[in-house]
Amino acid sequence: SKLDLVIRNARVATASDTFDCDVGIRDGRIALLGQELPAGAREIDAAGRTVTPGGVDAHCHLDQPMEGPARMADDFATGSRSAACGGTTTIIPFAAQMKGQSLRAAVADYHGRAEGKACIDYAFHLIVSDPTPEVVSNELPGLIGEGYTSFKVYMTYDDLKLDDAQILDVLDVARTHGALAMVHAENADCIEWLTKRLEAAGRTAPRWHAHARPMLVEREATHRAIALSELVDVPILIVHVSGREAIEQIRWARSHGLSIFAETCPQYLFLTAEDLGIDDSYLGARCVCSPPPRDRANQQRIWEGLTDGLFTVFSSDHAPFRYEDAQGKKIGGQEVPFRHIPNGIPGLETRLPLLYSEGVLGGRITLQKFVELTATNPAKAYGLHPRKGTIAVGSDADLVIWDEREVTVDNGKLHHAVDYTPYEGMKLRAWPGLTLSRGEVVWDGTSFTGKAGRGKFLPCGRPSLLPRRG
Ligand code: URP
Ligand code: ZN
Ligand code: ZN
Repeated sequence: SKLDLVIRNARVATASDTFDCDVGIRDGRIALLGQELPAGAREIDAAGRTVTPGGVDAHCHLDQPMEGPARMADDFATGSRSAACGGTTTIIPFAAQMKGQSLRAAVADYHGRAEGKACIDYAFHLIVSDPTPEVVSNELPGLIGEGYTSFKVYMTYDDLKLDDAQILDVLDVARTHGALAMVHAENADCIEWLTKRLEAAGRTAPRWHAHARPMLVEREATHRAIALSELVDVPILIVHVSGREAIEQIRWARSHGLSIFAETCPQYLFLTAEDLGIDDSYLGARCVCSPPPRDRANQQRIWEGLTDGLFTVFSSDHAPFRYEDAQGKKIGGQEVPFRHIPNGIPGLETRLPLLYSEGVLGGRITLQKFVELTATNPAKAYGLHPRKGTIAVGSDADLVIWDEREVTVDNGKLHHAVDYTPYEGMKLRAWPGLTLSRGEVVWDGTSFTGKAGRGKFLPCGRPSLLPRRG
C-alpha cells in the first residue's frame, strides 16, 4: 500500500553511517529506505539536510512531588512538548517511590501523571528510596518483568538516599532479574558536614552550593558505587558525571575489567561553578544542580570522555524549577540559604541543539558519536532498541531534520514551563527544523504541532549493557 510520508533527499545519519536516501514511512514506522522511493501521500523535501534519529532523553524529571514547598514546573504536557521542540522523541523520566510508599503505588501514580499529557513516547525508570523486604523480593522483580527494567538509587538527599547495605540489596535484584541500576554518586555525610560549616560561617549564597559538593565527594561515592557493583557482580551506570575525579574512578574500574557505564549532561560541558555566582547574588540559584558544574578544565575532560567511549549516554537531567516563584528557586518568595534551593536545571529542549552545534558542527565529536550518545545508546541501554534510537526499516519513524543556521538561545522561544534557561544568549549553529514522532510532525521548526496525550507508554526490554543471560 501507499506510503503515508516520504522524506526526500535526506542525509541520514545513524550511529554507524551517513548515507543519502529517501525515508518512506507507513503506519508510524520506517517502511523503506532507498533512492527514488514511490510517491507518498505526503512528501517532505529534506534538501540534503542531515536527518538523525529522534533523541532519547534517558534522564529527566517531570511532575515529581517534592518533599517541602518546591514544585516541579513541568508536567508531562509541558515537559514532553519542550522535548519534542528540541528534537527528542522518547523520554525516560522517573517514577519515584516515596519512603513508606509501595513501588506499585508510585508506578500507578506516575502513569496517571503521564496519561493524556505526554505528546511523545515515554518509559519509566524507578527510583527506589525504600527497599523493604517486600519491595526487594516481590515488587521489584515483578515490575522488571512488566517493562520497568532500570532503576535509580541515590547516595545523597535525605528523602531518597540508601545506605550501602540497601544499595547492595537493590543491586542484587538487578543482577538476579536483569535490570540496570543507575547510581547518583555523592557522599551525603561529607555534604552535610560541609554545609553546616559553611552555614556557621554565614556562607549561604547559591555559589556555596558548589563548595558543599566538591569533586572529592563525587569521587568517593563513585568509587564506593563501583565497589558495591563489583561485590554483587552486576553492571551499573553512574549518572550525571561532572568531571575529572569521577572519570578517573570509572577509567580505573574499566581497566580492572568491571562493567561500569556512565552518563553526562550539558551542564558539565557548558556551565562552570561561576554560573552559581562569583559574589553573593542570588541569580546563581538558577544553575544550582547536583553534582555542581565544575570548571573549564573539567569541561575539557567531559568532552574527551564523550569522544573516547567513557560515556555511554548524554542526557539532560531536566529538573525544572522556576526562578521567580515561591515554589521554585525562591522558596516562599525568599532568597533562601543554598541548602533549601531545589536542585536541578531545565534542559530537555536544549540538550540536542547544544551537542549538535558545539559538538558536531564545532568539530569536537562526529555525527555518528552524536547519534550514538543521544539516541542509539540510551535506547539500547534501557531496552528500547531497535524500536527507538535508530533509523532502520521497522523502527518507529522518530526523526529530526536539522536546520543549520545561527540561533540565539532565548527562553521566550522555548516550550517548557520554566522561566529561564541556563544557556540564555548562547549562539548555536543549528536547531531542529522538524521533529517527527511515529511519522507525525510534532515540531515544524516554528511551532509545536503535536497533541497532548498522543505519547505512548513503552515497556522496556532487557538493558543491552547487562551480560548475556546464563
Ligand atoms: O540537581 C539535580 N540533578 N537534580 C535532579 C535530581 C538528580 O539527582 O538527578
Ligand atoms: Zn541524580
Ligand atoms: Zn536527575
